[in-house]
Amino acid sequence: MDKQRIAFVSGSTRGIGLAVAKALLDKGCMVIGNSRTKELDVHHELRSRDNYLYIQGDVTQEEDVSYIFKRIIKTYGRIDVLVNNVGMTSRKSFIASTEKDYDEMFRTNLLGAVHCSKYALKNMIFNKYGRIINISSIAGTNALPFEVLYSSSKAALIGLTKGIAKEYASKGVTCNVIAPGVIDTGAGNYDDIKKSIPTSQIGSPEDVAGLVAYLSSEEAAYITGQVIKIDGGLFI
Ligand SMILES: NC(=O)c1ccc[n+]([C@@H]2O[C@H](COP(=O)([O-])OP(=O)(O)OC[C@H]3O[C@@H](n4cnc5c(N)ncnc54)[C@H](OP(=O)(O)O)[C@@H]3O)[C@@H](O)[C@H]2O)c1
Repeated sequence: MDKQRIAFVSGSTRGIGLAVAKALLDKGCMVIGNSRTKELDVHHELRSRDNYLYIQGDVTQEEDVSYIFKRIIKTYGRIDVLVNNVGMTSRKSFIASTEKDYDEMFRTNLLGAVHCSKYALKNMIFNKYGRIINISSIAGTNALPFEVLYSSSKAALIGLTKGIAKEYASKGVTCNVIAPGVIDTGAGNYDDIKKSIPTSQIGSPEDVAGLVAYLSSEEAAYITGQVIKIDGGLFI
């Protein structure tokens, strides 16, 4: 890497976001991590790492996102890499889902990425350089029962990615989206689902983080607007 890249990872305190933050730190980036939790209540190992800054904020709230990016630009002068990792899921029959469920799902899985992309892009366009990586899901590319709102919001994130990729390609900004399959973030027993995965393996947060690190690099300059699945061949 020619110069140190400044990267913001939304939702970096656990799971995939934590692995992404670590991978970008290992690549030599300055990493700004985030979640809604107060810094003192975040018990993750990155707090002691050099080149890591934590900024509390809810990415669904525009005033929080505005504060986060103002602080990043004021402190480091620019933002090079944005990883929109924040997301939520819920299992419910579609006809039982309410407008409140819809609002929560779309605010978390789409609006957060919309706010962060807007604030980051203003600076990336100015610098003629940017890498945006969105974390969608195979639920956004393939239908899953009882996850209709989740699928819709993750499909919308794919649309956001393609639109940004096309609109800002001439400004030196790439925008890609990763669609992870079943990733072991400690959420449960995976014995049954393993049988339906061609590689017979559950993915790890590090599998996703490795691809984020690549897409955020200079080497990935010619890849934009792409949806890349990491699912052990579940949906080929
Ligand atoms: N795990 C999987 O198997 C899997 C598969 C496919 C796709 N994905 C996608 O991958 C992404 C990460 O998944 P994960 O399982 O690692 O998630 P997770 O363990 O639930 O972690 C989510 C992170 O985001 C933060 N967060 C949540 N809402 C936020 C908000 N509004 N503003 C700021 N921070 C917020 C959380 O901290 P606080 O709660 O403290 O704010 C936490 O740091 C999600 O987009 C998910 O849909 C996951």
